[in-house]
Amino acid sequence: MWHEGRLVIFFVLTWVQAIVLAQGSSSLFTSYVPLAVRSPYLSAWLNTTNIPFNTTNPFDPNIERAPSRWPLFYGNANQILGWAGLIRVDNVTFKFLGNPGAPGNLNRSILTDLKLTPTRTILNATAGPVDLQITWLSPIEPSDLVAQSLPFSYMSVQVKSNDGQSHSVQVYSDISAEWSSGDRKQAVNWDVITTDQVVFHEQMLQVPQALSETASQALDATTYWGMQQGTGVTYMADTDSNCRNLFANQGSLANTVSSGPLPINNPFTVYAISKSLGSVGSDLTAPVIWGVGMLRDPAVAYLTPGGTVENRDPYWKTAHSTLHDAVTSALLDTSNAFDRSSRLDASILQNAAKVSSNYADLVSVAARQAMAGIETTVSPSNASDIMMFMKDIGASSSNVRVSPVEVLYSSFPSFLFVNASYGGYLLKPLLELSNSSHWTFDYAPQDLGTYPNATGNLEAHNEEVEQTGNMLIMTLAHARASGDGSLISEYYNLLKGWGDYLVANSFPVPSNQLNADQQSKANSTNLAIKGMIGIQALSQISQILNNQADFEHYSTIATTYVNMWRSLALSTDTSTPQHVLSNYGASSSSWVLPYNLFADKWLQTNLIPDTVYSNEEAFLKTLTSSNIDGLSIVNDPTSPSRPGNTAWTLFTAATVNDTSVRDSLILPIWNHVSQNNSGTIFPTNFDLNNQGSANGNNASPGVGGIFAPLALTIPKANIIVPATSGKSASSPSEKKTNVGAIVGGVIAGIVGLGILIFLVIFFWRRSREEQGDTIEKAIIQPGDTVPEVFPYNSVTPHEQLPQASQPTFSTQSPADSNELGSTPVGMFPSSKARSRALPPTPRSTPPMSSSAYSTSDQTASSREPPSRATSSRSRAPTSPISSHEVQGLRVEVENLRRVMQSFQNDRFDPPPEYGHE
Ligand SMILES: *[C@@H]1O[C@H](CO)[C@@H](O)[C@H](O)[C@H]1NC(C)=O
Ligand SMILES: *[C@@H]1O[C@H](CO)[C@@H](O)[C@H](O)[C@H]1NC(C)=O
Ligand SMILES: *[C@@H]1O[C@H](CO)[C@@H](O)[C@H](O)[C@H]1NC(C)=O
Ligand SMILES: *[C@@H]1O[C@H](CO)[C@@H](O)[C@H](O)[C@H]1NC(C)=O
Ligand SMILES: *[C@@H]1O[C@H](CO)[C@@H](O)[C@H](O)[C@H]1NC(C)=O
Ligand SMILES: *[C@@H]1O[C@H](CO)[C@@H](O)[C@H](O)[C@H]1NC(C)=O
Ligand SMILES: *[C@@H]1O[C@H](CO)[C@@H](O)[C@H](O)[C@H]1NC(C)=O
Repeated sequence: MWHEGRLVIFFVLTWVQAIVLAQGSSSLFTSYVPLAVRSPYLSAWLNTTNIPFNTTNPFDPNIERAPSRWPLFYGNANQILGWAGLIRVDNVTFKFLGNPGAPGNLNRSILTDLKLTPTRTILNATAGPVDLQITWLSPIEPSDLVAQSLPFSYMSVQVKSNDGQSHSVQVYSDISAEWSSGDRKQAVNWDVITTDQVVFHEQMLQVPQALSETASQALDATTYWGMQQGTGVTYMADTDSNCRNLFANQGSLANTVSSGPLPINNPFTVYAISKSLGSVGSDLTAPVIWGVGMLRDPAVAYLTPGGTVENRDPYWKTAHSTLHDAVTSALLDTSNAFDRSSRLDASILQNAAKVSSNYADLVSVAARQAMAGIETTVSPSNASDIMMFMKDIGASSSNVRVSPVEVLYSSFPSFLFVNASYGGYLLKPLLELSNSSHWTFDYAPQDLGTYPNATGNLEAHNEEVEQTGNMLIMTLAHARASGDGSLISEYYNLLKGWGDYLVANSFPVPSNQLNADQQSKANSTNLAIKGMIGIQALSQISQILNNQADFEHYSTIATTYVNMWRSLALSTDTSTPQHVLSNYGASSSSWVLPYNLFADKWLQTNLIPDTVYSNEEAFLKTLTSSNIDGLSIVNDPTSPSRPGNTAWTLFTAATVNDTSVRDSLILPIWNHVSQNNSGTIFPTNFDLNNQGSANGNNASPGVGGIFAPLALTIPKANIIVPATSGKSASSPSEKKTNVGAIVGGVIAGIVGLGILIFLVIFFWRRSREEQGDTIEKAIIQPGDTVPEVFPYNSVTPHEQLPQASQPTFSTQSPADSNELGSTPVGMFPSSKARSRALPPTPRSTPPMSSSAYSTSDQTASSREPPSRATSSRSRAPTSPISSHEVQGLRVEVENLRRVMQSFQNDRFDPPPEYGHE
């Protein structure tokens, strides 16, 4: 029976058992759910295809249960990532994850609920007389770059009795050596590290190969599997049957470690940790949390402008001097990580729900997939040189590209929404390469090489207008969302060259050019839109840099092109609403999904007249009602193929005002994803001629384009152009000064600074007192129509999150969290602006007192040399004004400084829109 959108089924099995099956907040049920999906290499998924999660008989004991399938790497059938979960209830053992065969008395737990949030997969199951709630968390850490860069995911298990009796319960989980290579014959070595605080397994190839992969699995990762120490925690590294049998027989492990190296699959070695919960009653137990991490160092090889190949560090190295430090932090941070993620999920979902509940579902499926496509790196010689690289996951080629520009473009809304600075970190290497002597073309490159070697793809290509438009649009979108004008300023000459390229090639687009969808169509209308908006983006960039002549020059051209475009690109047959044709001169029965219009809304370039949008919207309304399976990206009567695209459909949905049209664009995507028989991880491409089946780019980070409607709600920041890097914009004459002015200025400055500091402290303290209000205001009220700032912009930054409730955590003042990470999302400018405000810690000294997670002085690993102990962190001395407050003050001073500077630098822009209070 249906009840307020929740499916409630009462089921009477032979032994009379009533089970409530409610689908939680999300009724979407997709073919694969993410378990540990955190980086291009930490990517474990559960195949939920065709599990009988329906009204007929979801609990038929003869039907295979999803939790009893093995997790897979990316969804490749022949790449099982051994990961078993067992629960022992009154001496009877059930499996809740994976499909371990022995011992014979293993029972299957029964799936009762499965739901997704942006960071979590939550599965409920019943194991005889107890119910389990299993949560897989792959954090997204917008306010902490160290945490974001540390690829750790968590599995939490909570249990309660379902029959009113108390039961003796132990839980167990292992991972296998299959995580260490795509070649199962390779030899793996391992170790167990125990300290007072944590226990963890460590596995790696006997002969790791830097920056290399087999079947997409890294050959240079060290994989960790661990837990906090506590009563009833035991561990074991041994063959799969030895570990699992021992647990099934006695409910605990032997605390022994077999010796390697051994081949991955002969015998299968597993790394197990179990915990006894003692007697469990009808209250849900505290969570038992395992952490799984895959750490690589170096992360990416990068061709510098000078021509050397730099092996870049994973960013977490700026805070953790050793792997074991990093792992310990991640394991001690579990409770806080869950807490932060719950807040982030709530915040994202509140915003998404304003569009629709289907939309919120899609965001939940897409978020981890997009974020796991990137790695955050730092130069070993310069801690403020931060870059992110994206892997073209899901690409059919075996040489998977680094930072594919069209996929970056597709996913860019998600990164800007989560933390606009990430957009800058992603663009930086592409801009730097293009600006170097290595890149010899006047259009933008299409990628940076073969992952993880960003050593350049320096050949000519055919996506010239596509990628050049993408780069200009993303560069301005980043500046607008972050307020960071350093990239537009530093690379202005490069951007201008690209603008000139588009001027020469957007009208018409040369016939040999490919678009993002690898289609080549002479006089493509949609590609021309991207070219024209790219030109207008350059015009706006010029305006921000106070370059009036360029502003007018490019704006005039863009407007002229749009007028010419309108005369050729729009249908003339009045039997349907006027719409964008597939190409100039095509018949009126042709059409495209004009997804490139999204950029005009995103950047507020306002290049395309309102009538074009309103006519197109009316046309889309007719199309969606006659194509309920979704719209292909192009409809050309001369070609039968009907390719669909997740991201481009959502880009288009973001441009329409009529919510019924928007919803009817979103619904088919929801249907494709939730039909649960596609047999693939959420794809960007699907084939409408084949019931919307997946058609490539499964698991692509490109699904971040789902965030397009949310990206439109990001407020425009005042863009601060750093005075020193404004090569093209700042006029040298401004630097002329005289001594009198300097002396007067200094005196006025000192007085002013005193007043400023007073005001900042005053308002900052007040705003902290009012913090509860701030959060409440961010919550969306029903019927609220005013576009809201993404609440995460105004939600408390990391350091202000409440303390973990779990007593096992001796939490350090959260104010001690990593400096780079402790600023409000979306409010803070680029790494450059940050490094001005907060000078980077020299890498030779221990990290600031400060690891984002470390919860107390860390005990050195039992197997590490004693000197390690001395490297454990010292605390910042207590001062009258806590570092917590100093941190907040810094942020406020920086904001204030930006506001002041904006009055000087950004005269063309409307008054500041900071005051997020
Ligand atoms: C899943 O488990 C949690 C914790 O026991 C419970 O609150 C929730 O209602 C369960 N969901 C369903 C559908 O049973
Ligand atoms: C529901 O599951 C049963 C197996 O338990 C299957 O035979 C049936 O086709 C499924 N029904 C639907 C509508 O998917
Ligand atoms: C996923 O599960 C379905 C249903 O059991 C099965 O047909 C399919 O082969 C599985 N996919 C992989 C990659 O194992
Ligand atoms: C579990 O096994 C132990 C040892 O064999 C036994 O003492 C205990 O009674 C058993 N518990 C149950 C509930 O069967
Ligand atoms: C990356 O470069 C290294 C060093 O040249 C090489 O060993 C490795 O195979 C390359 N990786 C890929 C994926 O091409
Ligand atoms: C592109 O459109 C222009 C203007 O209609 C036309 O002159 C030109 O022939 C077209 N090019 C191609 C290759 O169709
Ligand atoms: C939606 O409304 C805005 C503001 O009124 C307008 O500029 C835009 O053209 C409209 N779009 C459509 C598709 O009607």
